[in-house]
Amino acid sequence: MGDIVENEASFYSNAEHYWREVPPTVDGMLGGYGSISSIDINGSKAFLKKFLGDGEAQTASGCALDCGAGIGRISKRLLLPLFRTVDLVDVTQEFLNKARTYLGEEAKRVGNFFCSGLQEFVPEDGRYDVIWIQWVIGHLTDEHLVEFLRRCQKALRPNGLIVIKDNMSYEGVVPDEVDSSVCRELDIVRSLAARAGLRIVHEEQQLDFPKEIYQVHTLALR
Ligand SMILES: C[S@@+](CC[C@H](N)C(=O)[O-])C[C@H]1O[C@@H](n2cnc3c(N)ncnc32)[C@H](O)[C@@H]1O
Repeated sequence: MGDIVENEASFYSNAEHYWREVPPTVDGMLGGYGSISSIDINGSKAFLKKFLGDGEAQTASGCALDCGAGIGRISKRLLLPLFRTVDLVDVTQEFLNKARTYLGEEAKRVGNFFCSGLQEFVPEDGRYDVIWIQWVIGHLTDEHLVEFLRRCQKALRPNGLIVIKDNMSYEGVVPDEVDSSVCRELDIVRSLAARAGLRIVHEEQQLDFPKEIYQVHTLALR
């Protein structure tokens, strides 16, 4: 990926500029594919429910972190219904502003709205049962992704989980000049997670998405 992200500073600033122009809507969050939001959320709910519960080794439902949260599409329909408290972090302040109204009454159970790039964000040690990272890893360089995942591991509570759900390319690293991101193949994402010292606990491919978009995989890590 070294060659692709030739200039790290512009890789990040171009992405910030891109997202500042995107409307704060579900369609905006999903690049015009707002119609797949329900399939996505239902798939995520089934995935996450395998881990949640009262059993000894189960993940608790105290606090979740929504990374690259945007307007809170995932917080609203997946995380707030399942966790007592949810924190949101995103680099685009406008999206977080919108989240306060988009989340409605339930916004009162949001602990923090953090405006920060994940490359700089330091989640509080031992705070989270689940750290959900969806459709945003392509905005981080390999090094920053590995370092962020390491910080996430420290931020987990006992039996906590980090979940990455994202587009995976068919081969190698595919750059997207429009939003200043990259799409990595699944094996590369797996090896970056391993470099961060994380173990893959479970992995699934999201089914029933349109054929023309990248395949989407969900990885549970700890
Ligand atoms: C494709 S949207 C996905 C939003 C949300 N995860 C969802 O699935 O609805 C990507 C989000 O990542 C945010 N973003 C882009 N680069 C980021 C960075 N370096 N750190 C944190 N957030 C970033 C954008 O502002 C945008 O809200």
